[in-house]
Amino acid sequence: PTELARIRNISKVQFGQWDLFPWYFSPYPESFTQEDVIFICEFCLSYYGDKKSFSRHRSKCTLQHPPGNEIYRDDYVSFFEIDGRRQRTWCRNLCLLSKMFLDHKTLYYDVDPFLFYVMTQKSEKGHHLVGYFSKEKESADGYNVACILTLPQYQRKGFGRLLIQFSYELSKIEGKLGSPEKPLSDLGLLSYRQYWSENILDLLLECNERDEKSSIESISNSLAMTTQDVEHTLQALKMQVYHKGEHKLVVPEAMIKQREKAKLKQKRYIAPERIQWKPPV
Ligand code: COA
Ligand code: NA
Repeated sequence: PTELARIRNISKVQFGQWDLFPWYFSPYPESFTQEDVIFICEFCLSYYGDKKSFSRHRSKCTLQHPPGNEIYRDDYVSFFEIDGRRQRTWCRNLCLLSKMFLDHKTLYYDVDPFLFYVMTQKSEKGHHLVGYFSKEKESADGYNVACILTLPQYQRKGFGRLLIQFSYELSKIEGKLGSPEKPLSDLGLLSYRQYWSENILDLLLECNERDEKSSIESISNSLAMTTQDVEHTLQALKMQVYHKGEHKLVVPEAMIKQREKAKLKQKRYIAPERIQWKPPV
């Protein structure tokens, strides 16, 4: 909790072809906070305070993708699954990096209880880190996401939506309902609300076409979302109507129009049939 009060300590990060400007404190070693710029290897995520040692490292580093199994690939992105216990250093480095853009998470050292689902885009140089989410191996609260991040240079391009979809696709495979760990940041909340609304709306429209009845439970089961998240979303969208002693779900015409327009722009989805993954035992 004392960390919440600590202010941004790194001014600039060179990461692959990008310069990143951190938003929040991250517990890199004290000496690094004196540097104008720190260098992070975009593949192994190790960090350097000067260009010379970083260049030396780059000439030796052979990693070209996150150190785990590739469990998803399409022509746009890949996902790798990384076990925090087996790849402790890499995962701690990922947490240090992501902490610069997350203000309320405090766990960066104990990565053992987590799996990391890392999304990349490929070039001739390798698989470039775009974003990730972490997930507790066993969540007593039924969370399917602990932390979620799109690196700043990739934000507002639809990658967060892909990360969130992927987390729910994993829950579907597990046969569980999932929800992100609370509290969510403002950006996290915006992204989740958008994801929940879109997906519930699309499902309701599909059901309407097939003349099927929907309920909170049926939506929840189809989308692997908790009934609470479904109910909150329906309330926020004012789609729950109480009529003649019966609860009904009504989709306003304007909302259908709006969604159809938005769908024309949104082209990227995770193709669930491409996920090669079984729940860890
Ligand atoms: N302002 C308004 N709406 C936003 C938004 C912003 N800055 N960022 C996301 N949204 C909403 C929009 O509705 C957006 O859909 P649209 O672009 O079609 O309007 C939707 O969320 C999905 O956006 P997307 O581009 O897929 O998300 P992203 O790749 O930018 O990633 C986060 C979203 C939350 C992962 C990203 O903002 C992030 O990494 N933030 C810092 C870390 C964090 O706070 N994580 C969550 C807490 S653990
Ligand atoms: Na963290």
